Amino acid sequence: MVTASAPGKFILFGEHAVVYGKPAIAIAVDRRIEVSIRRSDRPMIDGKHHGGGRSYVNSAVKRLWNNGPLNIRTHSNLPPASGLGSSAALSVATVAALLQMRVRFSRKSVALNAFLTEYEVQGRASPTDTSTSTNGGAVMVGPEGDNVLWTIEKEANNGKMNRWYVSSLELPSDLDFVVGVTGVRSSTASMVDKVKKFVDGSGAGMQIINEIEAIALEGVEALKFGDKSRLGELMNENQSHLFSLGVSHPKLEKLIDAARKHSYGAKLTGAGGGGSMVALTDEPETVMRDIELMGGRPIHVRIDREGVRIEDREG
Ligand code: PMV
Repeated sequence: MVTASAPGKFILFGEHAVVYGKPAIAIAVDRRIEVSIRRSDRPMIDGKHHGGGRSYVNSAVKRLWNNGPLNIRTHSNLPPASGLGSSAALSVATVAALLQMRVRFSRKSVALNAFLTEYEVQGRASPTDTSTSTNGGAVMVGPEGDNVLWTIEKEANNGKMNRWYVSSLELPSDLDFVVGVTGVRSSTASMVDKVKKFVDGSGAGMQIINEIEAIALEGVEALKFGDKSRLGELMNENQSHLFSLGVSHPKLEKLIDAARKHSYGAKLTGAGGGGSMVALTDEPETVMRDIELMGGRPIHVRIDREGVRIEDREG
């Protein structure tokens, strides 16, 4: 049996703009999904017989395994559909366990195969979530950076080749983030479509995307110097651009306003339209209370610096 686990993530800057080739910065968090795989006489996922389908686990198995039936168990302490990257963490942990059963994995091949798995199931994706979950720490996806970990290429539906550089970023140790889950479910695909209509329909949309790019690039510098005040300002600016793109939500606004009273800054994280927000703060307990009072589910997230790992191997 092989067990692998992979962390979730939140996006600090650049969601949506990354779809247009701009940089996004994401940070891995200390909530994980664990996947255990053993050989079996019939294919099972979480105690149920399965015969295919489009789940992340099935898609990874189809891609990487042709050596007989497997019994797969998953265990998660990441809230699903919350913008914390649970589908990416599931894809990364499954791919890592499968590659480890074959021989052993490299992070680069985990990142690539987990991205292709997520892409197949969702129909579109940037490699932000899967690469952050694989590497841990803070990751920039987009233009070529200083510490490139790997590049990921994928032909788009229009035949154009997309290429993303994935770089690791320096990250100070004293950053405290609180995530607030709205409980409002939203679909990443429909949010991406909404932004596309806006960008295709007016020059203003692309201008906002360019403003978000500038914020993300400045965010890289602010992270390097551990400048929390500037990071918070940039988070607030990023939020107002996401609002203008039409991907915020009244419940997100409520939680963001509440969190800002004791934070450097706060913004939605991920696709928006619901999902979650994130705040940078020195007073996590107070911010958690404020989020809870406004009807959100607060999670004090710590940074995961390890990324994907093999938990154990036997048999
Ligand atoms: O829904 P999430 O947390 O995986 O974030 C989506 C981020 C987008 O930029 C909107 C889409 C993408 O694939 O990067």
